[in-house]
Amino acid sequence: MRTCLVALEQQKIICHCLGITEQQILELKILKNVQTVREVMNETEAGSGCTACHRKIRDLLENPEKICR
Ligand code: FES
Repeated sequence: MRTCLVALEQQKIICHCLGITEQQILELKILKNVQTVREVMNETEAGSGCTACHRKIRDLLENPEKICR
């Protein structure tokens, strides 16, 4: 758990075009039950630039526990 909290505190950016962090996406997943890249785009515009982050967003949504490793 401590490792997970440290990872979130580091504010790792997942979408560099829009400056959206892993923490912001996980908050959407937890608070608004966001499940897809499209839903993340609708909420934050993350992924609406070059689209290079789509795989990372999808991975994070499907395996949020990875952030804690
Ligand atoms: S890195 Fe997310 S749209 Fe470019």
